[in-house]
Amino acid sequence: MRTIDWVDGAVEIIDQTALPAELRTLRLSTVEELVGAVRRLAVRGAPALGVAGAMGVALAAATGGSVARTAQLVRSVETARPTAVNLARGARRAAAQLPHGFDAVLAEALAVRDEEIASSMAMAVRGADLFAELCGASPRLLTHCNTGGLACVTGGTALGVVMEMHQRGTLGGVIASETRPLLQGARLTAWELSRAGVPFRVAVDGAGPYLMARGEVDAVVLGADRVCANGDVVNKIGTYAHALGAKAAGIPFVVVAPESTVDNDTPTGAAVEIEDRDGVEVAGGLPAVNPAFDVTPHALVTAVVTDRRVLRFG
Ligand code: MRU
Repeated sequence: MRTIDWVDGAVEIIDQTALPAELRTLRLSTVEELVGAVRRLAVRGAPALGVAGAMGVALAAATGGSVARTAQLVRSVETARPTAVNLARGARRAAAQLPHGFDAVLAEALAVRDEEIASSMAMAVRGADLFAELCGASPRLLTHCNTGGLACVTGGTALGVVMEMHQRGTLGGVIASETRPLLQGARLTAWELSRAGVPFRVAVDGAGPYLMARGEVDAVVLGADRVCANGDVVNKIGTYAHALGAKAAGIPFVVVAPESTVDNDTPTGAAVEIEDRDGVEVAGGLPAVNPAFDVTPHALVTAVVTDRRVLRFG
């Protein structure tokens, strides 16, 4: 089952707003529908957003309007969400093929999809190997947000590593941090782990650093929306607190992200636009501040595992 794919002339996604109550697919036939799905997180997670960006440009190419109109549509795809580098990157890759026509644009979008599938497989193996080296037998892991097949196409980044360790019999346990306010951990990660038969526990986000201090977590593993040139990691809000907790507890903090999320054009985390979402997601009608992501300085990051290499930092 793929989170996102091109099917009979349109983009099909698993509607992540409906999970875990209902597994349903949505068919997106226009750029406007795709942008709406990205904004309300029906499709989400950096690698899946890269594919959505590229396929959104294929929808724009299929529209067949003027060059100016197509450019406007491409721009709306690129900017639907600002933080994950994959979205604009996927859109630009596909847009570079626009002069060669729709078939070339679609071929590029399908290449982005296929590369993410291959990246997930490579990261799972490399990440599981790294945990064997860092933690020895059966580490108990804590993860944050959702980084499984739902965030990619199939497989996953950090959760792909967790699944691989489960299959190898080297996983000592996993805690899914619930990931306020939209509960990607409690809703989506828990759903994926259940389906895969991996035992897990959900914890409130604020419990993470305390569970580490209490000796109940051997390492943190999570994904990224952007890895900056200096190794700063931009990821779901709550990541920084887990990183501080891991540093205080003296346990590894490992980020798993494909090369498509590594952005050497962004020097540090300070240069990244952090998406601020509607306060209604946090506190109903109360005044609220709702940054969707945070920045973890590279000094708190033990390693970044990509599909091609392991970058070591703090
Ligand atoms: O707002 P979201 O759900 O799109 O945020 C997703 C994350 O922060 C993930 O941790 C990140 O994209 C890595 S996904 C493999």
